[in-house]
Amino acid sequence: MKKKGMKVLITGGAGFIGSATARALMDRGDTPILIDNFNDYYDPRIKEDRIKKFLKDYKGQFKLYRGDIRDRAFLEKVYKKERPEKVVHLAAMAGVRNSLKDPALYADVNVMGTTYLLDLAVKYGVKNFLYASSSSVYGNNTKLPFAETDPVDTPISPYAATKKATELLAHVYSHIHALPTTGLRFFTVYGPWGRPDMALFTFTQDIIAGNTIKVYNYGDMTRNFTYIDDIVSGILTCLDADLACAVMNIGGDKEERLTRFIEVIEENVGKKAKKKMMPIQPGDVKSTVADIRRLRKLGWKPTTRIEVGIKNFVEWYKGYFKA
Ligand SMILES: NC(=O)c1ccc[n+]([C@@H]2O[C@H](COP(=O)([O-])OP(=O)(O)OC[C@H]3O[C@@H](n4cnc5c(N)ncnc54)[C@H](O)[C@@H]3O)[C@@H](O)[C@H]2O)c1
Repeated sequence: MKKKGMKVLITGGAGFIGSATARALMDRGDTPILIDNFNDYYDPRIKEDRIKKFLKDYKGQFKLYRGDIRDRAFLEKVYKKERPEKVVHLAAMAGVRNSLKDPALYADVNVMGTTYLLDLAVKYGVKNFLYASSSSVYGNNTKLPFAETDPVDTPISPYAATKKATELLAHVYSHIHALPTTGLRFFTVYGPWGRPDMALFTFTQDIIAGNTIKVYNYGDMTRNFTYIDDIVSGILTCLDADLACAVMNIGGDKEERLTRFIEVIEENVGKKAKKKMMPIQPGDVKSTVADIRRLRKLGWKPTTRIEVGIKNFVEWYKGYFKA
């Protein structure tokens, strides 16, 4: 059962999903404690603005610690001072393609950082530990939709391998220390305040500027795009469920073609895209489709279609960049 006004540690709190989760927690009376190192994997100004602008009406209702999850002493200070009841661990090096360029950094942040956080969660008596995994753990599995019971032993990028590693570590901590953990396998998240390295952002940017967009696998790709509000409600559902040890798909319920996704962006921008058709990129998968029955059983359901979600994004984008 959710207790009113609990303290929740959110790592990656200045990130896309972290900042939106913080907002939703404050809306229901909880107190988020944010950790972020504001690294420059993408323009850190948007991270600063998520804190300054997106969370501006919540001043005094959350705390922010600037620091690195690879710094155990720093993490311990935060745990000791704040004594969070629950943890939502979202800080990570994200991005499949970038992980091929610097696999060691991904291993360091995603695996080592997660290990410290799990370890301290046990030491400081955390009651539920959620952590971001990813749909990318399914690799090139051919059985669709992807279900949590499917084997995920064949990742195809360093990023995916680190996410699978965090699931294995979490299992150990649940098993040995009875720490409740839930791994959240997010499926392509999009929406306002989204990540500048993701397709919706770069496509919108390039269509507005009249630049050519690269359409991989010649457009023959499908995704369960998941709107940020649906992701956040899924996170809160898992946060309140206190499952002993689980992994959970959180994905939209409609398989969308990449070409349709681009069409909806064009409609909202009011301009046709110049497209360059390209082969699939190393590490990328052709389809990610989520079996979401497990999370549905906890009462969650996704509600936002891309027609609405992309409209909201493009409106936000135009306002934010005064485009
Ligand atoms: N957005 C998606 O579609 C998606 C899909 C699957 C999984 N995920 C996972 O969800 C989580 C959140 O993703 P997001 O889209 O919000 O990404 P994001 O990059 O916007 O957020 C991650 C945040 O973590 C911070 N961070 C990174 N390394 C850190 C470190 N060493 N110490 C402290 N902070 C650090 C970053 O500065 C960033 O603000 C990530 O773990 C990501 O791998 C995201």
